Amino acid sequence: MTKRINKHIPVMLNNIKQYIPDDRKINVIDATFGGGGYSKFILNRYDVNKLIAIDRDDSVKIYAKKLEKNFPKTFKLLIGRFSKIDELVFQFKDKIFFDLIIYDLGLSSNQLEDPKRGFSFDYSGPLDMNMGFSNISALNVINDFSEKEISDILFNYGQERYAKKIAKTIIKKRKIIPINTTKQLQDIIKSCVPYSKKVKINPATRSFQAIRIYVNDELNELKKSLEKAENLLSDKGRIIVVSFQSLEDKIVKDYFNRKSGKKWRSSRHYPELVEKGPITLKNLTNKPIRPDIEEINLNSRCRSAKLRVAEKLVFEERL
Ligand SMILES: C[S@@+](CC[C@H](N)C(=O)[O-])C[C@H]1O[C@@H](n2cnc3c(N)ncnc32)[C@H](O)[C@@H]1O
Repeated sequence: MTKRINKHIPVMLNNIKQYIPDDRKINVIDATFGGGGYSKFILNRYDVNKLIAIDRDDSVKIYAKKLEKNFPKTFKLLIGRFSKIDELVFQFKDKIFFDLIIYDLGLSSNQLEDPKRGFSFDYSGPLDMNMGFSNISALNVINDFSEKEISDILFNYGQERYAKKIAKTIIKKRKIIPINTTKQLQDIIKSCVPYSKKVKINPATRSFQAIRIYVNDELNELKKSLEKAENLLSDKGRIIVVSFQSLEDKIVKDYFNRKSGKKWRSSRHYPELVEKGPITLKNLTNKPIRPDIEEINLNSRCRSAKLRVAEKLVFEERL
């Protein structure tokens, strides 16, 4: 395996460390291993019994090598989707419970900055966007889906105001020539979104995010995983989630609110989370924690990050 430079800077570690139990030996799941920043931090600083890392992208294996060598009995990387967190964990070890399960959602800089993966409009590459274990790619969405389907994806997952116009233009252009690259897609989006001095982000940002979320079924991944993760927690075990866009943050917020008994309104994005049910969590962050300005200045990628934490109630406290 060739050496690859790890470009990913772990986000919000300063905030996260307040929530990592330091009064006992801990079992940990790092559900989004990425460049291994969180795993490395935890293994080096805490008294860890087991740390199981998960990632759906097998290109992360290279970043696990050193940890596997330095912590052979403690650390294990498993390749798979975190929606199957329970199956993944149990295939590896007898039933144990976890003191910490941590998610750092979305993409790592290593994925984003690899042109071959097609995640970014900053690099010209093939329209792919598959993080691993997806049945489709961005190429299928852009070249095979109907105008309505494309428009719905851009609107529902990217809140793109010009979704209809972009979808219409995609259909028109693909009749002339297949749309194969991120550059072609970006040019189409730019031609549909009016330029505004006020808006500083690239006009393709929302559409690229929407297509990526759809291709990787990211919202369902999170919904399926949270409940399973909760069942894997020990008493007073904690789930920590760092999210980077509002749809994901809303899922986490709704789940933590509902499970901690807070007055809960139904969620368009989470209808399956029913209103009645046992209270099993304590919400430790009623409002999400945001990165401080020093961190944003050092690592602009973290500017939209939101951190939420919930703790499993001890058995006698559950209602
Ligand atoms: C932001 S990065 C994590 C970075 C990591 N915390 C670090 O400090 O290096 C997110 C990682 O989660 C992975 N990922 C995203 N969705 C996933 C899912 N549903 N199942 C498993 N891994 C997932 C991505 O492949 C990516 O490597």
